[in-house]
Amino acid sequence: MKHTGATSEKKSASATSQTMKAIRIHKYGGPEVLHYEDAPRPQVAAATEVLVRVHAAGVNPIDWKVREGHMKDFWPHKLPLILGWDVSGTVEEVGPGAAAAGRFKIGDEVYSLPDPTRNGAYADYIVVREPELALKPNSLHHIRAAAVPLAALTAWQSLFDTAQLQPVQRVLIHAGSGGVGHFAVQLAKWKGAYVFATASTKNQDLLRELGVDKAIDYTQQRFEDVARNIDIVLDTIGGETQERSWSVLKKDGVLVSLVQPPSEEKAEELGVRAAFVAGHPSGAQLAEIAKIIDSGKLTPVINRILPLSEARRAHELSQSAHTRGKIALRVKNGDGTLKGKQS
Ligand SMILES: NC(=O)c1ccc[n+]([C@@H]2O[C@H](COP(=O)([O-])OP(=O)(O)OC[C@H]3O[C@@H](n4cnc5c(N)ncnc54)[C@H](OP(=O)(O)O)[C@@H]3O)[C@@H](O)[C@H]2O)c1
Repeated sequence: MKHTGATSEKKSASATSQTMKAIRIHKYGGPEVLHYEDAPRPQVAAATEVLVRVHAAGVNPIDWKVREGHMKDFWPHKLPLILGWDVSGTVEEVGPGAAAAGRFKIGDEVYSLPDPTRNGAYADYIVVREPELALKPNSLHHIRAAAVPLAALTAWQSLFDTAQLQPVQRVLIHAGSGGVGHFAVQLAKWKGAYVFATASTKNQDLLRELGVDKAIDYTQQRFEDVARNIDIVLDTIGGETQERSWSVLKKDGVLVSLVQPPSEEKAEELGVRAAFVAGHPSGAQLAEIAKIIDSGKLTPVINRILPLSEARRAHELSQSAHTRGKIALRVKNGDGTLKGKQS
């Protein structure tokens, strides 16, 4: 049902409480700086904002990178800060501008990569700008939906917006078993590409289940001995892995990195393209991704579900750099049922 009123929509029964539970940091540091505590409940302050009751939050490496202070010179975060930029939940209040746009109404089940320069989703509530929201996939429970936005959007923007992936092209995805990688593999297959992907021995089965054509065990083989004439490399590792990736590209190929800007000089010398991608919010792309998920062609893999209060443990696991698929935090009780793939 389309909502077209120009006034804000608010759930009156829920307007009373001024506080909520959240995981916040008051200073940068290790997992011990994460505190599960009472925090002010956010308010819809701009007309185009939407208040979302968080059911689940996804965990990404950027969360612990922010926690450690790596982004403090780039993003205008203020402390105390709520971390976590992956959310699935229900619409609680709609600002007048967002209501006039007519896309969301109270009670809608939505998911989002909210602007990571603002407070995040490790909390009972989050305020999200309307263009950053989409209806969540019908086929996924909130916990699974929360694992999707940041990683799937980054994969989408890397492969489709930046690299302009075409059917039958050859793609090499480093860390195909990780958060971004497992979406990238499935999206590349959905587009009709021939996919090479790397992971360690224990994740070779997962790579094949995801549809990888040539799974490479980076602990046993050098990827450049297997993957040749590649159109697109998706670099999620950097360092030596990025350096060795140049040699597998065909002329006019593209090296897309998520972790370290690849050398423009090197790209020119080799006749290839280099790009760095910073994933950004897009409700429109999330709506497309939801359709692919509901068609059965894209499935999030969830490795671990923890309650919000155990965010420290979630960060320790994420920081191990060996997450299989995704980690999610359950925020609202009763959202523990899983449908679909779980590793
Ligand atoms: N620029 C952006 O917008 C953006 C967006 C999202 C993520 N990122 C960054 O991209 C990186 C990956 O993110 P993510 O969420 O996918 O991380 P992740 O889920 O933590 O990645 C873990 C995966 O990496 C694999 N792995 C570890 N070392 C490897 C190696 N040497 N070769 C191949 N695979 C290896 C692991 O497989 P095994 O256990 O089998 O080794 C594991 O499955 C992070 O640094 C993140 O901060 C950037």
